[in-house]
Amino acid sequence: MLDNIAALRQAIEADLATINDLDSAEAFRLKHLVKKGSLNALTQEFKAVPREEKAAVGKALNELKNWVTESFDAAMQAFKREADDAQTVDVTLPGRRPYIGAQHPTNAMIREITRIFSALGFDAAEGPEIEDEKHNFDDLNFPPNHPARDMQDTFFVKDENRNLVLRTHTSPVQIRLMQSRKPPIRCIVPGRVYRNEATDATHLAEFHQVEGLYVDRKVSMADLKGTLYTFFSELFQDPSLKFRLRPSFFPFTEPSAEVDVFVDDARGARWIELAGCGMVHPNVLRNCDIDPEEYSGFAFGFGIERLIMPRRKITDIRMLYENDIRVLHQLT
Ligand code: FA5
Repeated sequence: MLDNIAALRQAIEADLATINDLDSAEAFRLKHLVKKGSLNALTQEFKAVPREEKAAVGKALNELKNWVTESFDAAMQAFKREADDAQTVDVTLPGRRPYIGAQHPTNAMIREITRIFSALGFDAAEGPEIEDEKHNFDDLNFPPNHPARDMQDTFFVKDENRNLVLRTHTSPVQIRLMQSRKPPIRCIVPGRVYRNEATDATHLAEFHQVEGLYVDRKVSMADLKGTLYTFFSELFQDPSLKFRLRPSFFPFTEPSAEVDVFVDDARGARWIELAGCGMVHPNVLRNCDIDPEEYSGFAFGFGIERLIMPRRKITDIRMLYENDIRVLHQLT
């Protein structure tokens, strides 16, 4: 029996030397350490050892078992260390590129519009997004029962003392400008506006406009058309761009027009409406203490998202605010 123990120890020693990965470790364990393994088989033979030899054989058997367990653990540790070392950082690999933030197409468009109008002598101003009905409607010559005031178009803000709304357009800032400045006034007003309407491929309930206002002596409709034409040529850099003024109605301008451009994209050839414009109504000038006999003015209001659509070839306005990073990266 003592010879068998010595022979097994030699065999195990040889097998231990072969452990160098998970597979060889598992093979060793199955050969020697499991219930049907070599160690257990030898232990079974212990029962047949004569009584007077049992002490010496038992001791040798225990020493063998302890030695195998410790050696196997040590071999596993050494192999794991090697595996860990092999996993250390490879500094020669190329790094992961972090996403760099970029301007949202709406902000980029506001900046570009501001730059173009600044070259034409317009400065830029802002106004409040929560507005009173007086500025949003009354002073702009909206009759008291005008449909635009209706709950279906306007978000009203609950306030017991004042009639407040989320501004439905940037035109109330015209009033604020004319009440706080003296002509000549040449100013644009970019900002967010709100309308209680269903969204579709060309309509949002929350969008941006840029208001433009020019008040001076002898300002005419020809000045308005020339200004719009210069702006579009610069913005679209496209000499073949077709745009048209279509007669329309706004309570605060007379005459009034709508500005369309012609687009031909994946959704087909069509006119899309970009802006409303016109000559500032004499009543509006009077509401701001400006004498309509002495001064005249033009005003316009662009939909910024509508301008981005032909510029960036977007067929659905909602794509701008879905914040799909793959789309935004293509637009910046
Ligand atoms: C107005 O809001 C007027 N205040 C414009 C104006 C200013 C006229 C100064 C005369 C003088 P309108 O409702 O048509 O007009 O909107 C102006 C532009 O905003 C539209 O031409 C369109 O480009 C954009 N727009 C209007 N509704 C939406 C909407 N739901 N979603 C996205 N853009 C819109």
